[in-house]
Amino acid sequence: MKKPAVFLDRDGTLIEDVGFIRDVARVEFYPDTIEALRRLRDFALFIVTNQSGIAKGLISADEAHGINQFVVQHLAEAGITIQAVYCCPHERADGCECIKPNPYFPRIAERDFGIDLTRSYVVGDHPSDAELADRVGAKGIYVLTGHGLKHREELPADRTIVAGIEEASAAIVRSHAASLLNAGGVVAFPTETVYGLGADASNEAAVRRVFRIKGRPENHPLIVHIADADMMTEWAVDLPNAAIRLAERFWPGPLTLIVPKSSRVPDIVTGGQASVGLRVPSHPLALALLKEFGGGIAAPSANRFGLVSPTTAEHVRRDLGDDVDYVVDGGACDVGLESTIVDLTSDRPGILRPGGVTQEEIEATLGYKVPVAMTSDVRVSGQLKTHYAPRAAVVLAPQNELEQRARELQTMGHEVRILSPTDLEPQNLFASLRRADDEGAAFILASAPEGQGLGLAVADRLQKAAAPRDSAD
Ligand code: TXA
Ligand code: MG
Repeated sequence: MKKPAVFLDRDGTLIEDVGFIRDVARVEFYPDTIEALRRLRDFALFIVTNQSGIAKGLISADEAHGINQFVVQHLAEAGITIQAVYCCPHERADGCECIKPNPYFPRIAERDFGIDLTRSYVVGDHPSDAELADRVGAKGIYVLTGHGLKHREELPADRTIVAGIEEASAAIVRSHAASLLNAGGVVAFPTETVYGLGADASNEAAVRRVFRIKGRPENHPLIVHIADADMMTEWAVDLPNAAIRLAERFWPGPLTLIVPKSSRVPDIVTGGQASVGLRVPSHPLALALLKEFGGGIAAPSANRFGLVSPTTAEHVRRDLGDDVDYVVDGGACDVGLESTIVDLTSDRPGILRPGGVTQEEIEATLGYKVPVAMTSDVRVSGQLKTHYAPRAAVVLAPQNELEQRARELQTMGHEVRILSPTDLEPQNLFASLRRADDEGAAFILASAPEGQGLGLAVADRLQKAAAPRDSAD
């Protein structure tokens, strides 16, 4: 498939616009340029710059080239590859083909690098950058740095206008992910709990692909993620009062509500059940993506079925590789354990999976006991014994026996890891299990925390990881 690209203006976009420069000492990167470009790792990056100072005799072509090289080199040192720098040396009066907004350079990139211009972006601080985007069918992102403020009035209406390169790259990631979802693609994205493997919840074929990639049986339902609580009525019917109270109190946040589904929810999402799981995540990138996309995103955790949930974009890439169309990188997840699932389909709400919102908090909100009812007959894949399992065998023992058990196993020639109290913090647990696997541990020893507050969710995941590996795999 042809690659999407980002065409970046140089002066006023990546570096301060200080007029025509010949001296590298005057190159001043915006403070967020590097981070912003790192986020665009899945795009082919190009610099497209008009250097009319060359035709005007203010700088030489070599001097302009020297600055370009310096910029490319500086970015390369930060691990960012610029595929090519396209530099127009003319003045507008020369009537050349290559001056922006003429589409000359993007067309060369299309030809030489196999770029899909319709899925590409142009970032710049001049109306000619926006115009260039239009001429090649790409999306223009206008930054207010450089000349951006000065020329803002000349910009055609309904343009994407952002403060600078940082916001520009966030907008590109969001827009790219949303258009992939719209086209039936599968996109991994960060939430505050764990990374999700998302598809348009109303697109049956796309949701089916999620099951296939994850290797999950189709009778295990997916959670539908929505942008705000008001959207609940699109996806659910006969909402019980308790659902509305919990949504008001904990959304956006790590809570999933199981409620009667509306006719809008395709059967593939719920495994044919009459109920649907709904959640408004609080991660800013997840919320921004949901708003831009506009619909519901059906998403399980972005790991292969039965394995440990991913809490970084790197985990997802390692687990799923090219099977997923795109991974939105939002850093490490704050909560680190999956959402709490509350079943509201009977008049006795119950907790199907302990998670980021505690049982105590739920009971305090509803004013009555909400048991942890993990034996409910609704299908919850998190209830399978083998779920959340690393490769290594997990052995649970009281804290004061861990060292002794470790020695016994080591004497038998096994590689052993003991999880420390820090490893057992909710936000570290899954990463610690993965690290032990990476380090070649055959056994992971841990002492499960007390079953209150978030400790209940940690203990639950550890017990599942330690359970006998039976047929379910
Ligand atoms: O924190 C989370 O909940 C993460 C992030 C991505 O939102 N998602 C997640 O999804 O953990 P998943 O699919 O790995 O776990 C969701 C659980 C499954 O055990 C599923 O069976 C259960 O929710 N579930 C979904 N819909 C349900 C329904 N209608 N009835 C009962 N259980 C349901
Ligand atoms: Mg500029």
